[in-house]
Amino acid sequence: MATEHAIRVEALTKSYGDLEVLRGVDLAVARGSITALLGANGAGKTTLVRILATLLRADAGVATVGGADVAGEPARVREAISLTGQFAAVDEVLTGRENLVLVARLRHVEARGLGKPAAVASALLERFGLTDAADRRVGTYSGGMRRRLDIAMSLIGDPPVVFLDEPTTGLDPQARNEVWDAVRTLAAGGTTVLLTTQYLEEAEQLAHQIAILHEGRIIVDGTLAEVKALMPPATVEYVEKQPSLEEIFLAVTGAGAGAPAPQGGEQR
Ligand SMILES: Nc1ncnc2c1ncn2[C@@H]1O[C@H](COP(=O)(O)OP(=O)(O)O)[C@@H](O)[C@H]1O
Ligand SMILES: [Mg+2]
Repeated sequence: MATEHAIRVEALTKSYGDLEVLRGVDLAVARGSITALLGANGAGKTTLVRILATLLRADAGVATVGGADVAGEPARVREAISLTGQFAAVDEVLTGRENLVLVARLRHVEARGLGKPAAVASALLERFGLTDAADRRVGTYSGGMRRRLDIAMSLIGDPPVVFLDEPTTGLDPQARNEVWDAVRTLAAGGTTVLLTTQYLEEAEQLAHQIAILHEGRIIVDGTLAEVKALMPPATVEYVEKQPSLEEIFLAVTGAGAGAPAPQGGEQR
């Protein structure tokens, strides 16, 4: 099993003082998949991602990334991951190309046999549709271009697992589409992506697997089809209308009337 999953989380807990944020999180993320960790603001998404990225320690439970234990082997985990946060970490004064070359040098790509920094930068600019803007200062970029550059930067050094924490929060619809394309590009290259989002549509658009974090636990985990199948049967009356993920979210979190008791991904 361990080799099939890029990320495994079992019974993970984390509190800040009296505030119990994670109350026993279980999650398994298949290699090469895009998994959306969906939850409201304050649900604990960033907390979970920071634990997986070795930036924060869990109180209890086990988590492995790329087969390495986040608590016991943090250096091995860090070699296998990159983390892109909600706020782009790019330098605005530098050009897009300069940002990428800088990070490529810092990550010693040449010594690791991944190519010269300039070549690594050019390839990523091309892959994320930034070639035309490559030699402009990032300060002149749109929000979507910045976020794409940020995602491109996270790929330098070929980490097998990429965490994207709310990659489209604060972006306009067009920029959001650009980032979605960038995430699809990532996964098409074989990278495992765990992204967090408050946007149900984003999970629906991008994810092979959807995990809903609510009140400290993963209350639903499965494919989009499996998650949709959790809708109360009454909805079947509306044959022409598929339930939106939003309706499912409201139903399974108990916010809507007639919520079913979620039993895991394979329930119908
Ligand atoms: N360092 C911290 N100290 C105290 N409380 C925190 C800290 N970080 C996050 N929290 C609280 O934990 C909860 C979950 O936060 P977070 O993981 O950032 O949620 P999300 O990313 O889903 O919005 C929130 O109530 C937040 O205010
Ligand atoms: Mg967050």
